[in-house]
Amino acid sequence: MSAADLENLKIAESVPNLRSEIAAARNAGLKVALVPTMGAMHEGHLSLIRAAREQSDYVVVSIFVNPTQFGPHEDFDQYPRPFQSDIAACTDAGVDLVFRPDVETIYPADDETVVNLQRLSTILEGAHRPGHFQGVTTVVLKLLNIVAPDVAYFGAKDYQQQLIIRRMCRDLYLPVEIVTCPTVREPDGLALSSRNEYLSHQERETALSLSRCLRFTRDLISGGESRLDYVRQEMVAQIEKTPGVELDYATVADAESLEEPDRRSGPLVALIAARVGTTRLIDNMLID
Ligand code: PAJ
Repeated sequence: MSAADLENLKIAESVPNLRSEIAAARNAGLKVALVPTMGAMHEGHLSLIRAAREQSDYVVVSIFVNPTQFGPHEDFDQYPRPFQSDIAACTDAGVDLVFRPDVETIYPADDETVVNLQRLSTILEGAHRPGHFQGVTTVVLKLLNIVAPDVAYFGAKDYQQQLIIRRMCRDLYLPVEIVTCPTVREPDGLALSSRNEYLSHQERETALSLSRCLRFTRDLISGGESRLDYVRQEMVAQIEKTPGVELDYATVADAESLEEPDRRSGPLVALIAARVGTTRLIDNMLID
């Protein structure tokens, strides 16, 4: 494989095609990175791709809107699929290979294996989106097995997701390093998300209440407040007085276990999930 071969973005839709491309890179001794996405790329996705580009030699991006992680009344059909602009963004970012399987490739008709975490996948997001994390872990394990990367990149924006993936990889002895990249935000604090494009102008203003609540929580705890149940009540009270936001949860949890103690015993993470109009948004902030 020559340097020129590496300059052009390749697109693979089947597993054998993907594997033969990657085999060539691996035979050339290159360090292979995977960035799993559902497409509709924004600066959040691109920050993962840039980190992968800097820290590895061969960057694979998967684009797959994974049906099994959407609930029956969620936005799977509506989810944006701007494939051409995603490919342009990947080309600009120096991606080597895009894996774009169809649903039958990932889930053949007789597919019957799933992966599930017994506790971490059932709390917080898992409690509000039953089956969601089973869909995520199952597809991510398939992608890791198909690509067999040395390293895979995930965003802190989906805090519980990256913890679950780390735990799955550890528990199943997967030979891959997991890197978590910081949440990319708009200048006014809104965390970038493919779902932000569903928001009207007014809803986008309202959505700022999520990151405002997280900053308030961080400042409260950094300012010495140690009664975490009190902090949780304040979070909920703050969101409930914002018109147009329907709260799923707002809490502070242990940053590793996501348990919700009343007293702090290590790093914490503040987490929030709410609906603004019909759009469900999540955000979080680490409190060191
Ligand atoms: P998707 O929502 O497309 O996100 C792909 C990756 O980008 C995830 O790791 C996510 O955490 C990260 N990301 C999204 N917004 C971000 C932001 N504002 N800052 C930093 N990173 C951000 O998450 C998924 O897809 C899927 O669940 C997937 C892991 C691909 C499995 O289907």
